[in-house]
Order: sequence, then structure tokens, then C-alpha cells
Amino acid sequence: MNDRLTVAQVLSRFDREVGLEETVRATGGSSATAAAVDAASGPVVRGAPARASVAPASSAEPSPQRIHAPAPAPARPVPEGRPIPAASLRAPGSPGERAARLAEIEARHAETCPHCTTATGHTRLVFGEGAPDADILFVGESPGEAEDRAGRPFVGPAGEKLEEMIRAMGLRREDVYIANVLKSRPPEDRSPMPDEVAGCGPFLVEQILAVQPRVIVTLGGPATKFVCATETGITRIRGTWQRWLPPAGAECPEIAVMPTYHPAYVLHTYTMQVRGEVWSDLRGVLAKLGRTPPVRAEGQGG
Ligand code: URA
Repeated sequence: MNDRLTVAQVLSRFDREVGLEETVRATGGSSATAAAVDAASGPVVRGAPARASVAPASSAEPSPQRIHAPAPAPARPVPEGRPIPAASLRAPGSPGERAARLAEIEARHAETCPHCTTATGHTRLVFGEGAPDADILFVGESPGEAEDRAGRPFVGPAGEKLEEMIRAMGLRREDVYIANVLKSRPPEDRSPMPDEVAGCGPFLVEQILAVQPRVIVTLGGPATKFVCATETGITRIRGTWQRWLPPAGAECPEIAVMPTYHPAYVLHTYTMQVRGEVWSDLRGVLAKLGRTPPVRAEGQGG
């Protein structure tokens, strides 16, 4: 495994996680263009990659209204390829039964995942963790260095930010479920390839079917694309309700999806606007669940 990443690799992973690649493509520019735009558009957080503060394309849109305007999702939740086992299509039962089902999926994933059993460059598998009957399931892209070492999702700096977001919602990390699209760290943190997502992604589908959360929160562009089966970039889609459609034959209802920025983006683009947008998205999630945000958390979600 190569722990020493070039600046380009780190920035590439960062761009991917936050969806800036789509912003750059949509504006017809390159990353270098984005950096130039950034340099001209205001102060950058110390230590953050310069282009990380490129203003999101959606920044002019008022997010609170967008939360209440559901947008239909395309109907292709599972990549073609591997069928979901019949046992995973059945309605989950008690929390204990869900935990047992998740343990079975984890073991089967380790043995049979077409991507993770052939992948190189990672140390440990990072299956996911949390309450087996959680109301909220957070989905990221793939493990990074810290997660690869720990075998747990979101334990590095982005994980600390995610926990902060969860606490701002009045919840604890152990109240939610956290998983990634890919369960092994890509070599040199490169982008997941479509065949890797097609191989490993169905195990995330099985996790969703086992937990059956009331809301899925997708973190960043790649997670949103997979869960919502969309090509729309995160800057356009965040803050708008989407739907996760279960595979055919599953005893599972559609699940509401709230796409928001990846915590890494919040860390590196620590502006009032980005924090406000993330908090607005999370408040929308709480409202959907009939919960009131803790008063002292107002404005602290990002
Ligand atoms: N980024 C992700 O998308 N997932 C993790 O688990 C950690 C960082």
C-alpha cells in the first residue's frame, strides 16, 4: 500500500468526494481553471487545497425552499450485474435479526465481493457500522487511509466532522448507520472504477435493505450518484429530496434520500455558506423524521 500520496492524488480524491469534478466539467473548465477562479473569488482556509473554495454552482439557490421540493429520482437503484440474494430481499425483523443479517452480509462480502477479493492496495475491509435499525444511514464514497488502518468508516478528519454533524442533529454516532459505496480503499486513493462500484455496490444495497432506514444521507458526489442512480452533480442536487428505489422483489419501501456535501468539503471549505447549506440539509432530515434540532445546535451543523 502506498501511504504517501502526491498532492495531485489528494486533490483528485478531494475533488471527487465533494463533487467539484462535476462543477468543473459543467462550467467547461479544468481543475486549473477552478483554481484560478478560486484564487480570484476570496479567502481560502489555511492549509486547504486552493481550489477547494470554488463556489458551488448551486450557491445562489436558497436551500431551505429546495429541501421541500422533492425531485423524482431515476429508477435504477442497483447496478446491473449481481443479483441480490433472496434472503436479503425479505423484510428485516428485530434489531437483533438485522444485526445478524448485517453480520452475514459482512462475512459473505469478505468472501465473495468481486471487487474487494481481487483489489490490491488496501489493508483492511471497511464494511460499515452503527445501529442495525437506525433511522438515518449515512453513505460515503470509500475508505481513506485512517479507515483502512482502523477497519471502520469515517474515523479520520472527515469522520470527526461527520460526528460533529451528527451531534449537531442531537444524535450520537451509535444512533445512526454509516457505510461506503466501496468497502476497500482504492489504491493511491484514486476514483472508484465503474466495475468496482458494480461489484461492491450491491453489498451496500443489501446493507440498506437490512437496516431499512427512514432516510439515507449521501455524502458527496459519488455516493449520491450510486444511491440515487443519477449523473447530476452534488452541487446541483444537494438539498433536494431524492428517492432510493429498492431492487425488484424486495420487501422494502422507497427510502427518502438527502444528498449533502461530503464532510471533507465542509472541512476544506469552511465558509458560512457551505456550513449553512449542510445544516439546512440536516435540518430537512430532522424535519422529515419529525424531530426538532437542539436549539444550541442551530447554525452549527457544518
Ligand atoms: N471518506 C469516505 O467517503 N468514507 C470514509 O469512510 C472516509 C472518508
